[in-house]
Amino acid sequence: MRIGILTISDRASRGEYADKGGPAIIEFLREALSCEWQPHALIIPDEQDQIEATLKALCDDEGCCLVVTTGGTGPAKRDVTPEATVAVCEKILPGFGELMREVSLKSVPTAILSRQTAGTRGKSLIVNLPGKPTAIRECLLAVMPAIPYCIDLIGGPFLTTNESVVKAFRPKSA
Ligand code: MTE
Repeated sequence: MRIGILTISDRASRGEYADKGGPAIIEFLREALSCEWQPHALIIPDEQDQIEATLKALCDDEGCCLVVTTGGTGPAKRDVTPEATVAVCEKILPGFGELMREVSLKSVPTAILSRQTAGTRGKSLIVNLPGKPTAIRECLLAVMPAIPYCIDLIGGPFLTTNESVVKAFRPKSA
């Protein structure tokens, strides 16, 4: 089972600062998932064409059942991660962004500046997170309970979680 971790940042991609977001996502997933999985981590600049091509490659060629992005969700001119996500997804799942903004608002008023979203492409789920490393755990803890069942519904592999960190919810009828 492969999971794509995509850091989208002009400066991190040029090596001007160390990427903290990608490692924070991997650390969280290592704690939260009890099944075997491998990260496929990449750092790219805020270029919409490149983001779309990378998302497609992670879903279609690398077979990632889940792709988590960090960065590029805000209102600045170079922030285009949600546009790239919408362009490559077949179905948008607005509830992910709604819930992540709701939980983030409890710690920062600027949470409303993130346009983060999620969607499906084939048997893959793509989820956007803001670029702030502190946002990663907060946002993933909120949406992770629904991710395994979402991946079941789109025909992906069966994800299991460490219940002390995150309890995956699967409806009884499923
Ligand atoms: N969400 C959480 N949980 N924590 C944060 O610090 N920062 C906000 C927002 N969401 C933040 C957050 C800010 S300041 C911005 S500009 C937007 O996310 C977009 O960030 P991005 O462009 O790095 O994705």
